[in-house]
Amino acid sequence: VILAVCLNPALDITYRTTNVRSGTSHAVEVAGERAGGKGINVARVLHQLGIASTVTGLLGGARGAALEADLDAAGVAHSFSPIAGASRRSITVVDPDDAMVFNEPGPVVASEEWRHFLDRYRDLLGAASAVTLSGSTPPGLDRSAYATLVGIAGAAAVPVVLDAGGPALTRALAQGPTVVAPNRAEVAETLERAIDGRTGLRAAAEELRARGAGSVVISDGPDGLVCATRGGAWLARPPHRVTGNPTGAGDALTAALAAGLERADDWPEILRMGVGWAAGAVATHVAGEIDERVAAEAAATMVLEEMP
Ligand SMILES: Nc1ncnc2c1ncn2[C@@H]1O[C@H](COP(=O)(O)OP(=O)(O)OP(=O)(O)O)[C@@H](O)[C@H]1O
Ligand SMILES: [Mg+2]
Repeated sequence: VILAVCLNPALDITYRTTNVRSGTSHAVEVAGERAGGKGINVARVLHQLGIASTVTGLLGGARGAALEADLDAAGVAHSFSPIAGASRRSITVVDPDDAMVFNEPGPVVASEEWRHFLDRYRDLLGAASAVTLSGSTPPGLDRSAYATLVGIAGAAAVPVVLDAGGPALTRALAQGPTVVAPNRAEVAETLERAIDGRTGLRAAAEELRARGAGSVVISDGPDGLVCATRGGAWLARPPHRVTGNPTGAGDALTAALAAGLERADDWPEILRMGVGWAAGAVATHVAGEIDERVAAEAAATMVLEEMP
């Protein structure tokens, strides 16, 4: 089982309207209410592909209940730790030619609630063959939250994929995560310098390894990714740019990395799956879903180059 951690899940609400303008009021149609958050997207992709997963995290209030009901309806297995605060909403406003997203910060988590979550996390790791850590952390958790979770997974000998940047990544590196998978901007934020071109990505990946990551996968939008491991480094690119909605492509990539670790595939094979699933995610409208035909085609024709 792959354990997907989603510390700050959101009820994603989509408002559809016409002609969004500031200074006016808009009649909206609620076009959807869906359980969201990066960890939930990871679990949804795995579920779609028939790979056993469970999503865990912190959740509370009526919106938390709605989140769980939506996951039940989708058949996505979950085991969240209850909290007193209310889970957040994320509001997307779409009109025929634009979209805007408004993200609430999420509930304040008490230290007692965090300890309860850690107990559940340890229990769930007992049955897990890989774990993913991705997405924002709710207020009240300090910047070491992911470092703590990486450390516990390491002690349980469960490989971990961490998709984060900035201080959360910096602190987690010291705990030796199996794989870190930030995007280019997140790496720049973490290393506090601009990252130029492919050679910049390659150097940055090595730096993250030197700081403690086992392997590093830096995603770079339509240009694919750069991967550095103990056994070699690669540039992996989709055969062509897919048009669609790139939101959630990183989550599909994270899902593929965890699935590859679970199967103990070699790196070229893991990257093939990663580039494929991520391209498949761009081809669908909603995050947490992939177009399997596009994914299979991109995986089969992916461009892989070894990097010195
Ligand atoms: N237009 C595209 N066509 C094909 N593949 C894409 C495209 N955009 C992104 N990808 C694939 O998706 C992967 C992840 O994309 P990206 O670097 O944008 O992740 P991200 O910024 O973490 O996204 P998010 O966190 O919003 O899901 C890339 O490494 C690439 O393989
Ligand atoms: Mg991302």
